[in-house]
Amino acid sequence: MQNLAWSLSLVLMAAVAAVFLWVVAGASRPPGDAAAGARAASQWRSGLFWVAIVAGIVISFATLWDWPVAGHAANAPKADVTIRATGHQFRWELDRDTVQAGQLVEFELTSADVNHGFAIYKDKKTLLTQTQAMPGYVNKLQVRFAEPGEYEVLCLEYCGLAHHGMRAVIKVVAAVK
Ligand code: CUA
Repeated sequence: MQNLAWSLSLVLMAAVAAVFLWVVAGASRPPGDAAAGARAASQWRSGLFWVAIVAGIVISFATLWDWPVAGHAANAPKADVTIRATGHQFRWELDRDTVQAGQLVEFELTSADVNHGFAIYKDKKTLLTQTQAMPGYVNKLQVRFAEPGEYEVLCLEYCGLAHHGMRAVIKVVAAVK
């Protein structure tokens, strides 16, 4: 999808550049019938407007069909462990906090009050993954912790005075062979 977006951007940039060059080339021509020119330009604009609207709808449908978060997709793999996590001002409530390395863990996230950002860090400073914890919704987030260790959960959405205090730890133990 990144590559497609990049190619599409290049094509659109080339189109914009071509229009610029066309305008520059036309600037030296003597003015013709001003009213006819204005009419033609106006037709162009309304045509382009509808092209942009239709393209926007088509591109949105084509690219936003699947929820872009693992766990919500229709073909999401089945998790080995589910952890229900609820954000509160100002703490995380997890129904379990220990999993095994290599397990596919699914977080079911919600909030008891306001929006929180559920972010999992590795080594205190590397963001592994994150999503929103929202009141009235359950957001799913799938993670596979490759290595044992303590993974810190922080809040990534400013949610009040003690936002910075919303911390929890997920312990990942070595897989039982
Ligand atoms: Cu919860 Cu910031």
